[in-house]
Amino acid sequence: MSDFLKLGVLISGNGSNLQSIIDHIEKGSLKAIIKIVISNNSDAYGITRAKKHGIPVVVLKSGVFKNKEEFDLELIRILESKDVDLVILAGFMRIITPTLLKAFPQKVMNIHPALLPSFPGIHGQKQALDYGVKLSGCTVHFVDEGVDTGPIILQSAVQVLNEDTEETLAARILKEEHKIYPQAIQLFAEGKIEINGRKVRIN
Ligand code: GRF
Repeated sequence: MSDFLKLGVLISGNGSNLQSIIDHIEKGSLKAIIKIVISNNSDAYGITRAKKHGIPVVVLKSGVFKNKEEFDLELIRILESKDVDLVILAGFMRIITPTLLKAFPQKVMNIHPALLPSFPGIHGQKQALDYGVKLSGCTVHFVDEGVDTGPIILQSAVQVLNEDTEETLAARILKEEHKIYPQAIQLFAEGKIEINGRKVRIN
């Protein structure tokens, strides 16, 4: 298994991106193995998805920890104990601390439901609708210390339609998320991603 990229996937909710990563691994189009799924929400449906595929799950409840730092130290302990190469944020509704980023330098990825740098933060789809843009989409990026500000790896655009609601736009964007997140992880696994400051070059 040593040529498989070892992933730690962090979730808080539905886990459809987690599912798409699992599906791509099972199809063979993503040469990776999910060593651990960590959720900060014990009700996250993503936990059921992981268990169905025999993937170990840990639930970490924020309330149990003194502060964000302590929470992240426990995250690091678990991820390191599983020998994780790349940390995948997949709908993880927490801002991670610089301590986690130091433990996994340029090894934390996130997916955001808008074309960054437009509409960072929460409700990216609603922000796009309210602004009236004609194109939105999703972005896979490395995580840095800001909110959705790290170097961009892949993006995919979708049209915003006159009749769109937040839900219909989110669903159309999600379809693209499910394609580009596994792709970005596979590029990383193949060593094809080169980071130079803000710029990511795909070789
Ligand atoms: C996605 O829209 C993702 O872009 C955002 O959170 C949502 C997670 O959805 N970061 P899911 O839990 O993967 O279904």
